[in-house]
Amino acid sequence: MCGIVAYIGHQQAYPIVLKGLKRLEYRGYDSAGVALLDTDLNIYKKAGKVSNLENFAEDKNLNSTVGIGHTRWATHGAPNDVNAHPHKSGNDRLAIIHNGIIENYDALKKELIKRGHIFESDTDTEVLIHLIEEIIAKDNVSLEEAVRYSLNEVIGAYAIVIIDKENPNKLIAARNSSPLVIGIGKEEFFVASDATPIIEFTKNVIYLDDEQVAIIERGQEIKIVDIANKQITPMIQELEMNLEAIEKGGYEHFMLKEIYEQPQSIRASMLGRLNSVTGEVTLGGVEEFEAKFMNADRIIFVACGTSWHSALVGEYMIEDLARIPVEVEYASEFRYRNPILSEKDIVIAISQSGETADTLAALELAKEKGATIYGICNVVGSSIARATDAGSYTHAGPEIGVASTKAFTAQITILALMALTLAQKKGSITKTRYQELTNQLNDIPRLVGKVLESNEQIKYIAEQYKDAANFLYLGRGYNFPVALEGALKLKEISYIHAEGYPAAEMKHGPIALIDENMPVVAIATRIANYQKVVSNIQEVKARNGNIIGIVTEGDEAIRAISEHVIEIPATDEFLDPLISVIPLQLLSYHIAVMRDCNVDQPRNLAKSVTVE
Ligand code: G6P
Repeated sequence: MCGIVAYIGHQQAYPIVLKGLKRLEYRGYDSAGVALLDTDLNIYKKAGKVSNLENFAEDKNLNSTVGIGHTRWATHGAPNDVNAHPHKSGNDRLAIIHNGIIENYDALKKELIKRGHIFESDTDTEVLIHLIEEIIAKDNVSLEEAVRYSLNEVIGAYAIVIIDKENPNKLIAARNSSPLVIGIGKEEFFVASDATPIIEFTKNVIYLDDEQVAIIERGQEIKIVDIANKQITPMIQELEMNLEAIEKGGYEHFMLKEIYEQPQSIRASMLGRLNSVTGEVTLGGVEEFEAKFMNADRIIFVACGTSWHSALVGEYMIEDLARIPVEVEYASEFRYRNPILSEKDIVIAISQSGETADTLAALELAKEKGATIYGICNVVGSSIARATDAGSYTHAGPEIGVASTKAFTAQITILALMALTLAQKKGSITKTRYQELTNQLNDIPRLVGKVLESNEQIKYIAEQYKDAANFLYLGRGYNFPVALEGALKLKEISYIHAEGYPAAEMKHGPIALIDENMPVVAIATRIANYQKVVSNIQEVKARNGNIIGIVTEGDEAIRAISEHVIEIPATDEFLDPLISVIPLQLLSYHIAVMRDCNVDQPRNLAKSVTVE
């Protein structure tokens, strides 16, 4: 939700900030804006994508070696020019960019209006910069003091950067619950919501913690204090990411690149964890907490979106192999429903970004209630990763396409490793089955590569159904969460209404929707309940639905009753989701491209949802 970038140093700020905004556009693309300091404070902002801002600013004065920029996912106020960030103080001295929500902005705004402040926008952010202005004037304090005082008054989440006409050599940044990274270059500093705008300039970064304020001055050492003014010693870390990983590398879209990266990203998730010679699995976080896992009453997964679908697969895997009861919760529900938790519960958050506000809050609640908390995140150094007692990074590499693909299969890889580790430690799996599954897991990257070879066929199928108004996805057992994920992918990027259902549950409602216009994607590999799925597909056929079967190589029964079949290699059903999801990702991708949709940045969505 919203991306922020800032620069101060010896280079021109605008090109750096603009490029950074393009990298952060996955976080929101309702509007974009920059503030630059020449002799004047120049603010340029425009509704729509960063390219609109770029066109608008083309002929403006862009000279400045300090600048801040923002790309917005609208929460308070419509996505128009006025509500775009940066917002400035009433006296035109200060400008702010903000990712997050100031929850008590209304009360603060009323108070400030009484004191004569006039607001231009409907945003919560403008209230914050007026509050800072008010404190400077009223208490006659420095900018950094005023920022600290104001942050003591606000309730909510923020990652902010402030630029000041009277202090052209200074930027003030602060965070609470929204991510913020500071890059330390040679006599220059970068600030951003994630490391992607920074990576090509420096690998040395500081991740600001909650309620910390950074005073960043040209030619000086960075200074960090908390909002009570306690000095903090900055901890500089080295980024592991490389530049190629965040570029398209010849693919038309990031999503396609990320789909094709899955043989490598799944391999990366297993690296150092699955010994391909001995077949032994070691998952660091689980080893560390072995006693807790062995004595756990329950494992509760909290997640949102695609990560929630992975959690469902995890539930099937862990209950199946390790015989530990598992629950899967929408993080947004869990955090507000007063759940029963004890010290014998392990709460595992699954999150690609590691920044999803609901997931983070659910985890914090679990911690408060004494549960052990664990994170499965992709983004190294993210808020969830840092808040947890232990965890496993998925190591899928940066995922830029808003619709999650390689993060999903990486999460499932970790969950498979987790289920295998727990099962082995609990003695709930035979040696032979363990060996069989680890061998097959090791072969998954190759099998994913084989499924990717069906791309042209999938494109052809996409052409046949691109104009459908609805889609139904059916799956049973391990393939039920895959059906949900397939439907979500299609909705997200092609705007076609789609539902995922357990195949047998179809007769309790969705069957009423089936007619000759309804494409039904049936994930019907040779799993335990194969015959039952075939019967479910017969029920669709009897009502003239169009069947697209995702089947195991060599399948005859489903081919005979389907309009199309996409064959995938045979594997144990435990590992099926890792390959059965691939054709669904490609199908939604091609349909979205054919419908002229913005695949990487679908309307109204954002990749990192840092608001409730
Ligand atoms: C957003 C994204 C989804 C993602 C979900 C959870 O809705 O558009 O792709 O699955 O957030 O994100 P997380 O980073 O926590 O996995």
